Amino acid sequence: MATQRTRRETLLGFQPPAIGEEEIEAVVETLRTGWIATGPKAGELEERFAEYVGARHAVTLASGTAALHLALLAARIGPGDEVVTTPITWPATANVIVHAGAKPVFVDVRAEDLNIDPDAVAEAIGPRTKAIIPVHLAGQPCDLDALLPLGVPVIEDATHAVESVYRGRKIGSIEGSLCAAFSLNATKNVAGAEGGILTTDDDELAAEIRELRLMRRKPGALYDIRVAGFKANLPDLLAALALVQLEKVEEHAAVRRRHVAAYDAAVAELDGITPLARDPRDVHALHIYVVRIDPERAGADRNAYRDALAEELIATSIHFLPLHRLTFYRELLPEQPPLPVAERAGDEVLSLPLSPAHSDEDVADAVDALRRVHAAVSS
Ligand SMILES: Cc1ncc(COP(=O)(O)O)c(C=O)c1O
Repeated sequence: MATQRTRRETLLGFQPPAIGEEEIEAVVETLRTGWIATGPKAGELEERFAEYVGARHAVTLASGTAALHLALLAARIGPGDEVVTTPITWPATANVIVHAGAKPVFVDVRAEDLNIDPDAVAEAIGPRTKAIIPVHLAGQPCDLDALLPLGVPVIEDATHAVESVYRGRKIGSIEGSLCAAFSLNATKNVAGAEGGILTTDDDELAAEIRELRLMRRKPGALYDIRVAGFKANLPDLLAALALVQLEKVEEHAAVRRRHVAAYDAAVAELDGITPLARDPRDVHALHIYVVRIDPERAGADRNAYRDALAEELIATSIHFLPLHRLTFYRELLPEQPPLPVAERAGDEVLSLPLSPAHSDEDVADAVDALRRVHAAVSS
């Protein structure tokens, strides 16, 4: 591939958090109160987030991973059980199934949006199936109307889906779903450095997760515990940051919407580069902007585009490589049948920089670089 002129002089980061003075002040103020561990700020975040998604309960946790893990434990999923999930996700989604002692069952995804294919889920359900973990990939809600009636508890991986609405119903408070797990990781739409929130309408599940997240002393006892709890609580220092980010959630979404519109317009003119489908009936959280690169039509494969964009100082990422092809899962599941849609997608997906911290000029730089690479490899 011909070397391109580098337009930028500094690297355009893939997904830097948009941190303003308000976030800095909130963290400093919390430091000054002297209470930095889990306390009033975490409590306030739980109230605000429950209100935002319309759920009865929001439980703050150390990470999205912890939210998924404790949800499985609270749902009594363990050895001998199977949990059906998607291979097109971050490893955490399936790792927690393994941590719970259960077996992940990977099924294929839909070509248009790479969300789990409900027909494949239905086929995979057997007597050992105790839950389904769908992922609202990139912020596009899964087909919950097809998944929820399958009669198996649904634990939503909503880590990409803070703002998502499925057919008029807010993700995080969907009737019939057991719970939804959100992430506050630094790259997420509500960036709290690290952290997670689990939302549910189920009083017992919420109480159980509160008990599991921390080694809690039994009230009244001198010193006793009822369960072997974890250390999965969210400190106030991070909750303070997440609270400000939550206040800005719509403002930041508006910036990302503008960036996505610029990308959509640009890639519409680049043969062989196609964004994942977004269903107009839903609100998409626009967490990441994923394109598929068809090597036949785009003139080069995804890896070549990735390398050429890196030379242009445009950082990109991959969401995601199919989990069943990664070493750990290949070894764990030697009988895994091929999942052709996911496998092809794993070779073709590339995520372009998307953050409310990016200016319109930054996105224009990324678009220019993509156009230059496309022109160079298509000529
Ligand atoms: C799809 C998906 N699931 C789960 C997680 C885990 O979230 P956390 O990093 O908050 O543990 C991530 C994080 O990137 C993710 O992208």
